[in-house]
Amino acid sequence: MSTEIYYFSGTGNSLHVAKELQKRIPDTKLIPMVKYVNKDGLRTTGKTVGFVFPVHMMTFPFPVKKFVKKLDVRSANYIFTVSVKGGTFILSDLHMAKILKRKGKRLDCYFDLKMPYNSPTGVMPVRIPGMIDYPAAETEISELESNMQTRLDVIKTIVMSKEVKPKDDSPYGFSLLLKKIISALMAPFEILKEKNKINYYADSTCTGCGICEKVCLSKKIKLIDGRPVWQKHVQCFFCYACFAYCPAQSILVKKLYTEKQGRYVNPDVSVHEISSQNS
Ligand SMILES: Cc1cc2nc3c(=O)[nH]c(=O)nc-3n(C[C@H](O)[C@H](O)[C@H](O)COP(=O)(O)O)c2cc1C
Repeated sequence: MSTEIYYFSGTGNSLHVAKELQKRIPDTKLIPMVKYVNKDGLRTTGKTVGFVFPVHMMTFPFPVKKFVKKLDVRSANYIFTVSVKGGTFILSDLHMAKILKRKGKRLDCYFDLKMPYNSPTGVMPVRIPGMIDYPAAETEISELESNMQTRLDVIKTIVMSKEVKPKDDSPYGFSLLLKKIISALMAPFEILKEKNKINYYADSTCTGCGICEKVCLSKKIKLIDGRPVWQKHVQCFFCYACFAYCPAQSILVKKLYTEKQGRYVNPDVSVHEISSQNS
């Protein structure tokens, strides 16, 4: 196998991107990070290795960090990342380069792609009206999709020719120094991200269909007596899959998001594909 793409996806955007890359790059295998996050002895076998993930709080989700830290990447002679984001500037390239450096490897190339926001606020404790257009309008979704498809053609060419660090062409691309400063300022809050809590609950419209339990990437949700229970002792991955895939929009967030005006999930990814990441 010459290319391996490791992915993490809560609501399908990153998996959609990974699948589209797989279509473009011959001999590419997709591997879900969630399935192996608690396993040891992980090693890549590809010569080209990519990581595709959503941006959470300006960087990669903490399970991605845990996975990559453990991963033996000695087989790889070219490593790239695709950060799938809602629209902020990001630090994931810097953070990934740091992890790889400790393994004696380089992050050869990194990209970011703007896709619809999959949550009303992320893990922000308050909702700032107008800050995030959630759920995005159909026209915006198709425009983002079309831009993403065009950009993936470019990314494919870069990856296949193993080009190293092309100029960061993202509109929000910050200089490396500025990224380092922001990263240092945010470092003390890193641990808080993991300790954070999202106060999900299901209202009376819950039908007990169990989709939330299936798509829950951390296996935090258990259906008990036909109702979802977010088990206290299990750490949430903050992926928002339960919230977004609930067909009755019964899952809400206490004091933060109690609206039932639509949800966003990527239309090209099924419930089964999301749940297969940890089964
Ligand atoms: C907990 C959380 C935090 C997020 N933080 C950011 C952020 O800092 N910047 C950003 O641009 N998007 C942020 N997003 C939006 C996602 O990165 C974006 O919607 C992504 O496409 C979701 O990918 P997925 O469907 O593969 O999970 C956040 C989403 C969640 C759930």
